[in-house]
Amino acid sequence: MPHSLIAGMTCCGKSSVAKLLIPRWRKRTWNGKPYRIALLDPLRDPSWPLADGDCAFTNADQFLLYCKSSIDKPLAIFVDEGAQTLARGVDYNWLTTQARHWGHESHIISQRPTDLTPQVRGNCEWLYLFQTDCNAAKLLSMEWNQPALLEAVKNQRLHLHLARRLAETHRYKVDFATKTLVFLGDACTPIQKRSASRSKRVKSF
Ligand SMILES: Nc1ncnc2c1ncn2[C@@H]1O[C@H](COP(=O)(O)OP(=O)(O)O)[C@@H](O)[C@H]1O
Ligand SMILES: [Mg+2]
Repeated sequence: MPHSLIAGMTCCGKSSVAKLLIPRWRKRTWNGKPYRIALLDPLRDPSWPLADGDCAFTNADQFLLYCKSSIDKPLAIFVDEGAQTLARGVDYNWLTTQARHWGHESHIISQRPTDLTPQVRGNCEWLYLFQTDCNAAKLLSMEWNQPALLEAVKNQRLHLHLARRLAETHRYKVDFATKTLVFLGDACTPIQKRSASRSKRVKSF
């Protein structure tokens, strides 16, 4: 279950973090074969760092057909505006269910993760969570079993919680100057935060 969900409000940094991930795929292989990028982007953003051999689509059905027929070439799949492009079409569940058997890994980007199917969310291992609304934070924190994700409602622009199933959650920020994710620290649950600030108050007296 290697896939990623990148979620958060508009203009918070979702597409930017996806663009930072692409150069990492240039160094990776599956069964000795290099990864190519397959992008579904209805906005036709020209700043995606695509190269020869990559493929960009605006039509979700053509995109899905292309990914399904890429049997001998592993794909790093990026779906921008996921709730809009995939809606709740069950066919697109393939991107996070069977696609991995071809060596593909999917990154689903969405400002409304609650509108994606539970199968898409449930088959993502990684969650890049920017500022989001309370409903989405609650749902995702339950689905990833990580109360620390509730704090994502307070993330500043370009700041995110990065959660992995069965692992700790950490905080990062997108840094355009270095084109990296800068580590900000471990993520605390609201309860841990409250008790930390209480003990600080006691110490200061
Ligand atoms: N290369 C860049 N340098 C500086 N700022 C950028 C760059 N690319 C995007 N931004 C800014 O980062 C913010 C997040 O953009 P983006 O990742 O496209 O948001 P989202 O996909 O979440 O809607 C926006 O305010 C955008 O103007
Ligand atoms: Mg975007």
